[in-house]
Amino acid sequence: MKEFDVIVVGELNVDIILNRIDRFPEMGKEILAGSLDLTLGSSSAIFANNLSSLGSRVAFIGKIGKDEFASTVLNSLQSRMVNTSNIFTSGTHSTGATIVLNFGQDRAMVTYPGAMEDLKLEDIDWEFLSTASHLHFSSIFLQPGIRYDLPLLFSKAKSLGLTTSFDPQWDPAEKWDVNLSELLPQLDVFMPNLTEFTLLTGTSSLGEGIKYIKQYAPELTLVVKNGVNGAFGWDGVEILHQPAFLNENVVDCIGAGDSFNAGFLHKFTAGASLAECMEYGALTGAVSTAKAGGIGAFETREIMRNLAAKLFNKII
Ligand SMILES: Nc1ncnc2c1ncn2[C@@H]1O[C@H](COP(=O)(O)OP(=O)(O)OP(=O)(O)O)[C@@H](O)[C@H]1O
Ligand SMILES: [Mg+2]
Repeated sequence: MKEFDVIVVGELNVDIILNRIDRFPEMGKEILAGSLDLTLGSSSAIFANNLSSLGSRVAFIGKIGKDEFASTVLNSLQSRMVNTSNIFTSGTHSTGATIVLNFGQDRAMVTYPGAMEDLKLEDIDWEFLSTASHLHFSSIFLQPGIRYDLPLLFSKAKSLGLTTSFDPQWDPAEKWDVNLSELLPQLDVFMPNLTEFTLLTGTSSLGEGIKYIKQYAPELTLVVKNGVNGAFGWDGVEILHQPAFLNENVVDCIGAGDSFNAGFLHKFTAGASLAECMEYGALTGAVSTAKAGGIGAFETREIMRNLAAKLFNKII
């Protein structure tokens, strides 16, 4: 039995979330927000936090600065029982931050990447990695220090007996420069959203994209998320559609994709079927929309369970 179910290698930052703004800001003018939250941000950290809340044993490998935001990140992960012994302090960069302007169900964001750009393959302790059953990596485009070494990271993880998953997330440069032919054969689960999937594969539909990835990784499990339209799963045989659990009172959709990933991989690492993993992912994705920020709905097991029961009549 390994010490951890999942080790997350990824980016760390705080989110500074401004809610209840009544119009978008214009150059040279000032508007007011109705509320401000400072909370754990970043795809990888939200994923790790929520996966731990679901009951998986989780550890994190990443980089922060030496500042107040670093304490917010560490305290938050530690209070959710995520192992932070391999979160390192950068000697050159401060902790990243994202300013989120929430506007209805959509949002605009500006990110200062900071220390996440300084994470390198040399920072990974292989002995530590081998204490987990599964490796998850998220946000390739935000981590220039490690992005071109990802095939090496995943192949090393596979050789140590771990299963692997990867969520690319959005490319702020919109160049979508990822060598999928090298990366996909090292993965067990690939988890983009639909827009990311078509842009990465250079195709214009789910079916075409599946044909493209099949040539490199016929055994891969593919999960393509599509917001309120649900998600598609493909395990080399058939395409499965999982509808979203519709939440009538969405607070915000920050981290819905990461919460979906957490639910999906919590079941996947326990050996569940694709259909079970997809349904659980859709449930945890929907639950995350019921509270502010990426981790609000997963703050305690009780909050998370009550939301699932009350809103969707489901047990988490
Ligand atoms: N408004 C919503 N109501 C209910 N479920 C939702 C909602 N938004 C998202 N979900 C669920 O969460 C899943 C993932 O969301 P989405 O498709 O937005 O991922 P994403 O684009 O990767 O998100 P992120 O911005 O967090 O990376 C969806 O497939 C759906 O099941
Ligand atoms: Mg996403």
